[in-house]
Amino acid sequence: MKVVAAQFNDDGSVNQPTDWRKWIFVGSPLTPNALNGGTAPFPEFHNVYVEPSAFASYEKTGEWPEGTQIAKELALVYENNNDDVGASTEVSGRGYQQGEFQGLELTVKDSKRFSDMPGGWAYFSFGHKAEPYEKTATAFPAAACNACHEVSAADDFVFTQFYPVLRAAKGN
Ligand code: HEC
Repeated sequence: MKVVAAQFNDDGSVNQPTDWRKWIFVGSPLTPNALNGGTAPFPEFHNVYVEPSAFASYEKTGEWPEGTQIAKELALVYENNNDDVGASTEVSGRGYQQGEFQGLELTVKDSKRFSDMPGGWAYFSFGHKAEPYEKTATAFPAAACNACHEVSAADDFVFTQFYPVLRAAKGN
């Protein structure tokens, strides 16, 4: 099964993917400031998308194929008279809704290109900020990203324990 690969440049940087919001949406963990002493490292919703051809392969084999791309886009909590825990009260009730986009990260599994990275996964950020995001990004050192993913993520560096869509799809 052919997996759509990320585009790399001669200097080793990866290009920002173009259509990540049209990939398969698998989940949206939230770690708001109000529950993290006022300063969560990532106070936004974490919207996670899997590139569709990699998703199809995962569905079939239950494993992440070479070339897998997973994007994580951050979205700030919606601001509307937010109360003491940062929640807003909307017609649907009191809680947390999504406001503006605030950053984009990507992980790519390529154990040839990143043979020195644990699991063959490389991790990138196109900026923890509002759009426009950076056009290219270079891989973080393994200690910055792979280490936590290796120890704490449920399935091959991916936090499937937070993504029911992936648990349902795995190896069907
Ligand atoms: C302390 C642990 C920790 C570290 C360090 C870490 N992450 Fe994660 N990462 C998580 C958790 C937990 C999730 C699950 C979703 C969420 O809460 O955002 C996640 C999810 C992701 C995802 C979505 C795919 C997946 O594996 O679930 C990407 C992409 C990602 N992180 C990128 C990065 C990048 C880039 C770095 C390094 C700059 C990094 N992470 C460092 C804990 C970590």
